Amino acid sequence: MPGARGGAADGALPYVPARGGIPALRRAAADCRGCPLYENATQTVFGAGRSRARVMLVGEQPGDQEDRAGEPFVGPAGHLLRSALEKAGIDEEQAYFTNAVKHFKFAPVAEGKKRRIHKAPNLSEMTACRPWLAAEVRRVRPELIVALGATAGKSLLGGSFKVTESRGSLLSLRAESDLPLSTQEEGAEGGLHLLATVHPSAVLRAKDRDEALAGLVADLRVAARFLG
Ligand code: URA
Ligand code: SF4
Repeated sequence: MPGARGGAADGALPYVPARGGIPALRRAAADCRGCPLYENATQTVFGAGRSRARVMLVGEQPGDQEDRAGEPFVGPAGHLLRSALEKAGIDEEQAYFTNAVKHFKFAPVAEGKKRRIHKAPNLSEMTACRPWLAAEVRRVRPELIVALGATAGKSLLGGSFKVTESRGSLLSLRAESDLPLSTQEEGAEGGLHLLATVHPSAVLRAKDRDEALAGLVADLRVAARFLG
């Protein structure tokens, strides 16, 4: 527990252990109270997958099924993402999956309805949770981060980042350990890259789902080519 060090302004920071790998982070994150989202959610949904992975996929926040299961990307959006990865030729077993925000945020359930409706995290929740994502980037040390949608993009690269402008292109990043990361000229020292694309939930909501899925797969193929 962070005791007197913790305050709302610090968000998750006082809860992040200085040492240890992903398992240590996951254990500590289970007790995070860095923002109010822990109050109504079932549990912290920390990242999962290979703890030293060449590629790290970052979503927005856990959904209804992830909140119950305690694992990221196990619901409908996760299924779509895994099938898109397979189509693009990226082995999901080689990847690390996480979210910009680690607790499920939802609107109150209407009478008679079982499924809770997801609400997008706001800037203060994204900022509060960012130390966990930064710690994951430091521990996993990926060569490539795939940002799925606007929340992931803004959490990783700052509030002015626009997925629509950058999707599908490989960005070279300065290998700083803190978020937000900043881009640099291709070929400069560092070696960390980022590719932004749409969130798999946006594909599920799209009017033309086949076309939206093809777009996601095309972006992921750029990632697959980079990974070789
Ligand atoms: N959507 C996300 O962004 N992350 C998940 O883990 C599930 C759905
Ligand atoms: Fe902590 Fe993030 Fe959960 Fe907020 S959403 S309580 S910062 S883990």
